[in-house]
This record gives sequence, C-alpha cells and structure tokens, in this order.
Amino acid sequence: MDDKFKALLVDFQDGKTTAELRELDNSDIPEQGDVLVAVRYSSLNYKDGLAVTGAAKVLLSHPMVPGIDLAGVVVESESPDFGPGDEVVVTGYNTGEKYWGGYSQVNRVRSKTLVRKPDGLSLKDTMAIGTAGLTAMLSVMALEDHGLSREVDEQIIVTGASGGVGSVAVALLAKLGYSVTASTGKPEARDYLEALGAREFIERESLASPSKRPLEAGRWSGAVDAVGGDTLAGLIRTMRPHTSIALSGNAGGIGLNTTVLPFILRGVNLLGIDSNFATMDARVTAWRRLSELLPKASLEQMTQEIPLRDVPKVCPDILKGRITGRLVVNIGD
Ligand SMILES: NC(=O)c1ccc[n+]([C@@H]2O[C@H](COP(=O)([O-])OP(=O)(O)OC[C@H]3O[C@@H](n4cnc5c(N)ncnc54)[C@H](OP(=O)(O)O)[C@@H]3O)[C@@H](O)[C@H]2O)c1
Repeated sequence: MDDKFKALLVDFQDGKTTAELRELDNSDIPEQGDVLVAVRYSSLNYKDGLAVTGAAKVLLSHPMVPGIDLAGVVVESESPDFGPGDEVVVTGYNTGEKYWGGYSQVNRVRSKTLVRKPDGLSLKDTMAIGTAGLTAMLSVMALEDHGLSREVDEQIIVTGASGGVGSVAVALLAKLGYSVTASTGKPEARDYLEALGAREFIERESLASPSKRPLEAGRWSGAVDAVGGDTLAGLIRTMRPHTSIALSGNAGGIGLNTTVLPFILRGVNLLGIDSNFATMDARVTAWRRLSELLPKASLEQMTQEIPLRDVPKVCPDILKGRITGRLVVNIGD
C-alpha cells in the first residue's frame, strides 16, 4: 500500500479552528491501535459538525482527524481476531474525539472497538447508517426493553425526524409496524418522511412551545428524541401512562424545564441513550437488527454521498438542522 494518503486535519491556534485536507504518510498516524485500516467511507453526524467547526469542544487534542465513524478493510493487524482483508466498522469509542477518526484514508484503530461488517450491508451502507442510525436502533431497543410492544402500543413519536437519528428511527419503527408521528421543523420534508413510513406530522415549534401545565393529554406510547430542550419538555408532558422516551440528542438545547409529576403520576421513563460507549454486545445486536430491518430503499432515500474535501463546507448546515437524512463521506474521493 502507498505510504501517502489524505486526511482532514483540524487544528486550533490563536483561538481559531481550522480544517484542512492534508497529505500525510503512515508515520504520521498516532500509535493508537493494533489494526491498520484502509478507510473507504465515513459519515457526517451532528457531533462531527461541532468537531470540524470548533462550535463545541468535541476534540480532546489538536491537531486531530475528526470523524466519529469509519468503515474499511484491514491492511495489517497485530490482533488475532482480525486479519488483512476483513471488512470492519467503528463507531464511537471516542473515535474522532480522542483518537484519530474516520476522515483519513488510513487509520490505526483498537481491535476491541471493531465490529465486523454485518452480512447484508455494504461498507457504504454501514456508514449511511453510522452513529446516527446505530443510535436510532439502540433507542428502539431501549423502548422495547422497557415494554414497548406492537400488541398494545401504537402511536410513537420521533423528534428531529428529518435528521440522521430521526430518519432511521422513523424507518425502523414503521417497518416494525408502529404508527409513527414525525416531529419536524421542515415542512418540505413531509413527502420524504412519508416515504420512510411516517403517518402523521407535528410541527417542531408546537411540540416545543411552553406550557404552564405539568401534564397534558397523553398522546404517545413511545418517543425517540434527538432534540432535547423544550421539545423534550413537551414530550414528557404528553406521554401516555407507563411509557418511555429514548433520549439521545440535544440539537434543540441542553436545558430541560420540567416537573417530577409525569414521572411520579404517570410512570413515564426517560431513557438515556449513549452510543459512544454502548457495549459490544449491544452494538452487535443493533447492527444485526439494522441489517435485517432497515429497508434498503429507505436507506438509499435518506442518504447523500459527499467527498471528503466537502466535509468542512457542509458542517455549518448540519449544525443549523438543514440536512435531511444522512451524509455518507467517500474517503477515497
Ligand atoms: N447520545 C448519542 O449517542 C448520540 C448519537 C448520535 C447523535 N446524537 C445527538 O442527536 C442529535 C441528532 O444528531 P443527528 O446526527 O441526527 O443530527 P442531524 O442530522 O442534524 O439531525 C438533527 C435534527 O434535529 C432537528 N432540530 C430540532 N431543533 C433543532 C435546532 N434548534 N437546531 C438544529 N436542529 C434541530 C432537525 O430536524 P427537523 O427539522 O426534522 O426538526 C435536525 O435535522 C444531536 O444532538 C447529536 O449530538 C447523540
């Protein structure tokens, strides 16, 4: 393999964050893992937008290659568990935060973070899903673990529905047979969400509008929330008794203005979802279920491919909630 490769390097100097496509060689890669991977695809998640622009302190040191996801082929391995030619996927485990991430054509990764590419998905498919899609699956699994079932439950709400976590959650829940209400701030995304399986819509603003009442009419049998903030406060007030919210995101803010009443009078559960350090068992189960459940047509519909060089240009858009669906990054391009 050629020693030279391209990577997106983010630096922070004199109070300013810069992101630059650079030519590097293998000796530049930190000694951070026991498996050398030729990276084919990565993805662009909300957190990557924060990392590349410096809008939040996601990168733990500089210079750093961001990209919390990567999929590629093993080139060299010191681990007995992986060998040259194996197709592997990494999401999270501080990849692209503390360790060089997916925006590099070659990377050294820790074997304990590697998942074998699931059957039925291509490397590109795995990154079209990426951390956002894995988080959607983990959210659905958490709701199921807390009693969500098709026999008794119907109306499930997904917030930030047109975003990455939201799009995959809509498609998964619809495929499982639930009636999905999509909360979105993009009226123009309704056809898209309907095609993924959403049956009803609620405007982002109406769910997030403040109320003096601690409890309102219970509407939802379950919720996947990637937005947080006032949206989450609205959800908590409007859950049916003994139902759960799987909370993964803060696109709408980190504050939460609520009361204890929905929890103690209606038995509402707030389930935190952390994909970064999800256990290996949970990841393997989630990837298997994604490969079985997520319709290929839905995945194609929600995915746009961009070349590595375009990542810095697109990052401000994801932070403003302007991206619909998922962005897969072609690292070879
Ligand atoms: N806990 C975890 O493990 C985990 C994993 C992945 C992601 N996350 C978090 O989940 C959130 C979503 O991630 P993502 O990759 O799906 O991002 P994304 O593709 O940008 O989707 C976020 C969506 O949230 C909605 N939104 C609502 N209020 C918003 C606001 N004030 N500003 C911007 N967007 C707003 C928008 O959808 P509509 O226009 O349809 O309303 C937007 O498309 C992020 O906070 C991310 O950090 C957490």
